[in-house]
Amino acid sequence: MDKIVEISKLGKAYTQGHEQLIVLDGLDFSIARGEFVSIVGHSGSGKSTFLNIIGLLDDTYSGEIKLFGSRLEDLSEAEKAVLRLKNIGFVFQFDSLLPEFTVLENIEMPARLLGGNVPGPGLELLKRFGLEAIADKFPMEISGGEKQRAAMLRALRNGPALLIADEPTGNLDRHNSGIILDDLRRAAGLGTAVLMVTHNEEAAGRADRMLRMAGGRLVLPA
Ligand SMILES: Nc1ncnc2c1ncn2[C@@H]1O[C@H](COP(=O)(O)OP(=O)(O)O)[C@@H](O)[C@H]1O
Ligand SMILES: [Mg+2]
Repeated sequence: MDKIVEISKLGKAYTQGHEQLIVLDGLDFSIARGEFVSIVGHSGSGKSTFLNIIGLLDDTYSGEIKLFGSRLEDLSEAEKAVLRLKNIGFVFQFDSLLPEFTVLENIEMPARLLGGNVPGPGLELLKRFGLEAIADKFPMEISGGEKQRAAMLRALRNGPALLIADEPTGNLDRHNSGIILDDLRRAAGLGTAVLMVTHNEEAAGRADRMLRMAGGRLVLPA
């Protein structure tokens, strides 16, 4: 299998006053291209901490991380910034569409950040996910479920190898959660590795593989 993330013995502690809070403790993990993996775990178990490290938003950890074949410690800050923009997409519980831009313009935003501004792939993505009807609407004109789907397509805009989703259904009802889970499955089918964390066991069960965050490690669910 073509592993795009390989992590061994990951450790992370926060200092709270005089106390050290150990959140990740010798965690091992890998994910392959096109795989849809979910992580469940109770609130405070370290799920977001883990995603922030993989997503290159936090570099204070111990252990080894290989992303897309490179060891993170061998990369400069500039290289990591490009890697993040090109190869990693993020979706969070609350969508963050910019209200003064249309859905399509929001989806095209990551391409502008990379310096290019070729319109097209965003519309292609909207069509592929059956959302072309909302391309020219503004965020306030669409539903919560549609906003979350648009935020997901924005995360896919630059064709990332890895899509990181932190509680992507946390703010949605059951129907819309199902649609987002179908979308994530479709994204994996297009070759993106999808890593979703959630405290919802039912949502997590929709992935190819489900892991549990417990004691600072990822274990197979009992
Ligand atoms: N910046 C921080 N400083 C100190 N403690 C933190 C920080 N971020 C998270 N924590 C603590 O680390 C633990 C794990 O948090 P988090 O990764 O957000 O868990 P989850 O996403 O599973 O709910 C929690 O006990 C939280 O209070
Ligand atoms: Mg969290």
